[in-house]
Amino acid sequence: MKILISGGSGLVGRGVVPDLSRDHRVDVLDLKNPAGEHSSFLRADILSLSSLTRVIHDYDAVVHLAGIPHPLNDPPEKVFQVNTVGTFNMLEACALTSIPKFIFMSSESTLGFAFSKTRMWPEYLPIDEEHPLRPQDPYGLSKVSGEMLCAAYQRTYGMETISLRAPWIWVNEPAEMENYRRLVREPERWAKNLWAYIHVRDVSQAIRRALAADPFGRHEAFFICADDQWTDLPTRALVKEFYPEVRLAADALPGRSALISTEKAASLLRFRPECSRDDLLRP
Ligand SMILES: NC(=O)c1ccc[n+]([C@@H]2O[C@H](COP(=O)([O-])OP(=O)(O)OC[C@H]3O[C@@H](n4cnc5c(N)ncnc54)[C@H](O)[C@@H]3O)[C@@H](O)[C@H]2O)c1
Repeated sequence: MKILISGGSGLVGRGVVPDLSRDHRVDVLDLKNPAGEHSSFLRADILSLSSLTRVIHDYDAVVHLAGIPHPLNDPPEKVFQVNTVGTFNMLEACALTSIPKFIFMSSESTLGFAFSKTRMWPEYLPIDEEHPLRPQDPYGLSKVSGEMLCAAYQRTYGMETISLRAPWIWVNEPAEMENYRRLVREPERWAKNLWAYIHVRDVSQAIRRALAADPFGRHEAFFICADDQWTDLPTRALVKEFYPEVRLAADALPGRSALISTEKAASLLRFRPECSRDDLLRP
């Protein structure tokens, strides 16, 4: 396939672009050059529709990673604008040239917990795609808006749109690995993230599955994450301590299982996470 990856020069792109380039023709669209030699580079700003229409044409699929990946370093209006208007412009440019497939990198932050301003707890566990989305911050709001835009472009143009809701994406970069080793020992700091993570290799796998999936005839959103949570504690003990409001079924969340279910991605995309915390943190 001939694929365009927006934001392919970023943290996630640095893992996804070389992997997809092994068996697809991949172009990267970004403001900055990608690090490797795996792809050709198109400089364009997702905030400028005219700059996108100059370079987007004739692709089998577009993977939209470009954006601001959390609300912590930028003014709120910038986070919302880049992510929401940027996604609108990408979809519009794709519709103008009849790109058949659009994969949107959404986020676990659509749920609202990660950057919440008031105390929130899950309505039930494990969380699945039926769980309410209640973001309180510009990033989570921008991702819910992006998913709504994907649904609208699917309905309007028949463009196949798929949203992949990733939690914290782990990468094999030494400084980051040091950070992950620390968080494993700090469950109290990360309750709002539901201790959920996914390795970038599994993000790439999910994108491959989404690229290969037969059309659903509607927009679909999928949670993708590792099967386990990253702490050393049993999941039921974590829930009891940090989310005592949630009533758990007797057989729910055995061992260190993740608080977010990927059953929908397993059944409709054939996605199964392959990386676990122990594989990743093993010295
Ligand atoms: N990193 C995570 O843990 C995580 C988790 C869930 C979802 N995501 C999503 O994955 C995607 C990639 O995240 P990342 O961590 O690689 O972020 P990143 O900041 O490392 O990379 C984002 C890329 O987008 C590009 N970009 C930003 N504004 C642009 C613009 N106006 N025009 C063109 N390109 C622009 C940047 O230059 C950068 O290369 C984002 O959509 C993010 O919300 C990330």
